[in-house]
Amino acid sequence: MALKNLLALVVLLGVVGVSVASPYENPFRKSQSNPGTMGNLDLDYYRYKCPQMEDIVRRVTIQYVSPKPTLAAALLRMHFHDCFVRGCDGSILIKSPNNDAERDAPPNLTLKGYEVVDAVKSALEIACPGVVSCADVLALVARDAVLVIRGPWWPVPLGRRDGRISRISEANLPSPFANVDTLKKNFSDKGLNTKDLVVLSGAHTIGVSSCGLISSRIYNFTGRGDFDPAMNPNYVMELKKRCQPTDVKTIVDMDPGSVDKFDSHYFDAVDQRKGLFISDSALLNDWETKLYIKTQVWTRGASFNRDFAESMVKLGFVGILTGDQGEVRSRCDLVK
Ligand code: HEM
Repeated sequence: MALKNLLALVVLLGVVGVSVASPYENPFRKSQSNPGTMGNLDLDYYRYKCPQMEDIVRRVTIQYVSPKPTLAAALLRMHFHDCFVRGCDGSILIKSPNNDAERDAPPNLTLKGYEVVDAVKSALEIACPGVVSCADVLALVARDAVLVIRGPWWPVPLGRRDGRISRISEANLPSPFANVDTLKKNFSDKGLNTKDLVVLSGAHTIGVSSCGLISSRIYNFTGRGDFDPAMNPNYVMELKKRCQPTDVKTIVDMDPGSVDKFDSHYFDAVDQRKGLFISDSALLNDWETKLYIKTQVWTRGASFNRDFAESMVKLGFVGILTGDQGEVRSRCDLVK
């Protein structure tokens, strides 16, 4: 009996321990790979300051994304673009009267869904004025938007502060024309490893691009009217039917055959040499990224959702501002 009670106590403490242990240690703290971003975040950061905040974010996100599921891809991409430039500090959301903020940079001109972030923020400002940062709002909105389309869930530790600086000149995001060494360097510069690169590239399981970005790849790869030999010729034919040589506007699916579903099909596509961008195909040119792709193909994505969640948590720590750094904006598009 005594042993039974002891066991019950241990189990109880375990449960309490798990639910109380909400501070989330910065994954970069151990590796020292991302100096300057050592603050911790906390799953329960707003528990007392704004207890209803996660409900509000979820409700408003569902309201916007349910009738327009393509916003899920847009918002996930927006969070990534925020984190890769000055860290996850909401700087992508800032508008400049001179059109020289991050959001004015070419790769960001196709970002969509700012209205979702603004609507969530407005609702939060009514419930708890001046409390929830735009950086946290964006991180949560991206997660909840992906959930709306039945994608994976990941925990979003909170407590990021908003940056005050947003410069077009700093918006150097990974290029769709990059080779795998460059992509690995882009990611390692942010403290993310090769596995994070291939796993997070799996976000291209949803969403679209346009003909303009692949035209040279399918029509004039080396200047001799050829296509990229890394591409499946049947796929090139399909793409040519969709994209006429001078067409820059027509929309193209990133994960042909399964564009609306958040699944591991992207890795099948890349494996079949149907990666839309050079940067997608390039993932077959490194043993580690290739092995990951093959493993997802062989196991039908057995670990993809779990891996994606893990890498998203890491991405959410890139370059964060915490404590008394930065600010909490009351409007996400305006610096105080
Ligand atoms: C590895 C380097 C990456 C490169 C070079 C890259 C590049 C691109 C490009 C060029 C587009 C098309 C944009 C357009 O035509 O409007 C795109 C779309 C997209 N990217 Fe990436 N990306 C990368 C990584 C990521 C990561 C890490 C995520 C998220 C975790 C992500 C999420 C998305 C999504 C969801 C879309 C579709 C957006 C939509 O439909 O609105 N990408 N990416």
